[in-house]
Amino acid sequence: MHPNIWYPYTQAKTAPEPLKVKSAQGVWLELETDAADSERIPDRILDCISSWWVNLHGHAHPAIAAAIAQQASHLEHVIFAGFTHDPAEQLAAKLVRQLPANLTRVFYSDNGSTAVEVALKMAYQYWSNQGQPRSTFLAFEGAYHGDTFGAMAVGARSLFSSAFAPLLFDVEFVPYPIASTDEETTAATEQAVLNAIAQKLEQHPDRYAGIIIEPLVQGSYGMRMGRVPFLQQLQELAHTHQTLLIFDEVMTGFGRTGDWFACRKAGVTPDIICLSKGLTGGFLPLAVTVCSEPIYSVFYSEEPLHTLYHGHSYAGNPLGCAAGLASLELTAASEPVFRAMEARHTAHLADFADHPKLTNIRVTGTIAAMDIVTNAPGYLNQLSLTIRKRAISLGLLLRPLGNVLYLMPPYCITDEELAFVYQGIRTILAEI
Ligand SMILES: Cc1ncc(COP(=O)(O)O)c(C=O)c1O
Repeated sequence: MHPNIWYPYTQAKTAPEPLKVKSAQGVWLELETDAADSERIPDRILDCISSWWVNLHGHAHPAIAAAIAQQASHLEHVIFAGFTHDPAEQLAAKLVRQLPANLTRVFYSDNGSTAVEVALKMAYQYWSNQGQPRSTFLAFEGAYHGDTFGAMAVGARSLFSSAFAPLLFDVEFVPYPIASTDEETTAATEQAVLNAIAQKLEQHPDRYAGIIIEPLVQGSYGMRMGRVPFLQQLQELAHTHQTLLIFDEVMTGFGRTGDWFACRKAGVTPDIICLSKGLTGGFLPLAVTVCSEPIYSVFYSEEPLHTLYHGHSYAGNPLGCAAGLASLELTAASEPVFRAMEARHTAHLADFADHPKLTNIRVTGTIAAMDIVTNAPGYLNQLSLTIRKRAISLGLLLRPLGNVLYLMPPYCITDEELAFVYQGIRTILAEI
């Protein structure tokens, strides 16, 4: 470990040495390897997970690199209160065109967690600005919305947040309805969750500022996949009972579910959406929280206290916005690719259908996942470390969530590269 760096999500005392990446191109990371290691660690590894789910178009994409360089040569950054600039305005306008028509007001921040913080604040203050304060949120068991305090509060109480549990505000959780292969069972599970939500909303019509959900795929808790009809009925409930629906599409945005956004795939119009990760194609930290006009209008006032007093030093950073604009263009060009990736995964996964070490094989759009059979499921399952290590030696960057092995590759992955990934998984499964 470097003596001056504290790495995220890393227990420095027990973690293996981090691998040094020299450069990257497309789906490949070029590693610095010394002679002693070269037998175990290849010169390059394939990024099967888009580096914490951010990279959409491959590493070091020349179009995004050029857009950033061009922007950096004339305006790198400026305070975003009292001042504005073309990249932020253009990106907001272009983003809004890809979102459901009701989502029109773009608030910039820096990362997925802050996008969620802003959404929670918008929803909370939306009610208090109207003199009808609401005290809590409805969220889903197994949720992950980030590591800042508000985002932790609406996430599952897990080992990620347990150290801070006493500081987290109260949130009410309902089960996340996971789709199974049996439609009837899935529909019954969904109905039970919808009934539980309806009951809460009916009993306490003034309690919930909003409902927050990772639509279609709950990421960090283990790539748990849900269905479109549930989201449609959830929207109906939120509208009927007049609470706000917040979609955290930090992970699912920009093609990941096989459509531009999970909300578009579901034909659902949330009141607020959170986006980050793929927004700049994986180049720079940037996030947006986009809300509807009725929400914005409640803050639009001559009363200073109705202002959303929230902002970050790097809000609307021009370099990030320039990267976002270039990435949006590439995403539009990749639409056939992200729409087709589910079928490509499915073709490979068919070979694993009866694998004795696998269960719950699933795919949504560009995301494929499978559970490795174990009697100790969960994030701390040692299988994760074993697989990570063996994957590296096979030339793959894999980072299972405990016993959940998943793939979320950049869209530029070729058929040969994808076959190489699945062959690697086959080899690993034979060994564990
Ligand atoms: C659905 C979701 N929301 C929010 C976040 C937090 O994003 P960040 O790590 O950029 O703060 C993540 C990160 O994995 C996520 O998957």
